[in-house]
Amino acid sequence: MTPEQIALVQQSFAQVLPIREQAAQIFYERLFALDPSLRPLFKGDLRAQGAKLMSALTFVVGALHKLDTILEEVRMLARRHVGYGVQENHYALVGSALLGTLEEAFGPDFTPAQSAAWGAAYQALAGAMMAAARDMQQAA
Ligand code: HEM
Repeated sequence: MTPEQIALVQQSFAQVLPIREQAAQIFYERLFALDPSLRPLFKGDLRAQGAKLMSALTFVVGALHKLDTILEEVRMLARRHVGYGVQENHYALVGSALLGTLEEAFGPDFTPAQSAAWGAAYQALAGAMMAAARDMQQAA
């Protein structure tokens, strides 16, 4: 990611934070519309899960300029996701739901440059998580 893309993601995420509960709700609606078979993987309360997701995103977005320093946390998150039944192909669906949520939340204010920057940020995060999950499954 370029420094400009990191700044675009950080600025737009700051605008999402005040509406994070609605954003999380839109996100899960979009995710389950894309693939209803994902719904049973979520065993707990979705509002609480949405809050956890937003706090994890806050952590990652804040560290986009130094992703190497949070790599171990990201890898542990990925390993826990294997236990939740998450598979590699699910990451693309979550990426689509995330981008769709941002488009819906921002409307025409969501620029192509912002969309590309979020796509790159999600790719960096999901790529690290998928690699960690693969390493874990190969070692097993
Ligand atoms: C790529 C970025 C992602 C982030 C930042 C993220 C974040 C989180 C966080 C913070 C939790 C709370 C539990 C924990 O910390 O272990 C969680 C749980 C969970 N996530 Fe993710 N996640 C991501 C991707 C995914 C994907 C691709 C799926 C696939 C559907 C998924 C499905 C789940 C499920 C099923 C749970 C457990 C929910 C429950 O027990 O009710 N996540 N996630």
